[in-house]
Amino acid sequence: MEGLTIQIFELISQQVLKLRISELSREINDRFENRDIVIICVLKGAAAFMADLTPQLNFSFAADCIELASYHNFTSAGRINLIRDATIDIAGKDVLIVEDIVDTGRTLQFLHSHLSAKNPLSLRVCTLLDNPERRLMDSPSPDYVGFTIPNKFVVGYGLDYDQEYRNLPYIATISGGH
Ligand code: IMP
Ligand code: MG
Repeated sequence: MEGLTIQIFELISQQVLKLRISELSREINDRFENRDIVIICVLKGAAAFMADLTPQLNFSFAADCIELASYHNFTSAGRINLIRDATIDIAGKDVLIVEDIVDTGRTLQFLHSHLSAKNPLSLRVCTLLDNPERRLMDSPSPDYVGFTIPNKFVVGYGLDYDQEYRNLPYIATISGGH
């Protein structure tokens, strides 16, 4: 738009992302046994993270995805829309949710209650980014966190601003615009 400048600053480089995701996969490998495991990617933001994380996991699992939407531009709309539900039966299974970022925690809270109702044996969360300053009091905490970030809106590596910037190979802060 005329007169508005959007500024992008690299926050987490591609190389640092890669190293940390390898570490995370080792942590997960150490704690997941070969049982019935379902890994659920939260679309669309977590798709890049899911694609880099899961080939490094050394146990067998079923992969699924769920699509939610809550954000409009820089601010949470405050309610979660379920766009596509996971289809694999998770009853009695160990479930790992793969998320891009936990911000207010509303999405995680929604996922916890939505998926708990399907009676999984366990429900754990792995998020690439955590923005704990924005958290609401009563939301659950993620079990695995790639990076704790400062209270900034970020894009790249799957995360978007108005559906753009998902293709950046690194995580960046974004400011300006409307
Ligand atoms: P929450 O419900 O407020 O925790 O937000 C969760 C969802 O909003 C995340 O899964 C992201 O898809 C999106 N989101 C939150 N913060 C950001 C951000 O800084 N950049 C891009 N998307 C974000
Ligand atoms: Mg998300």
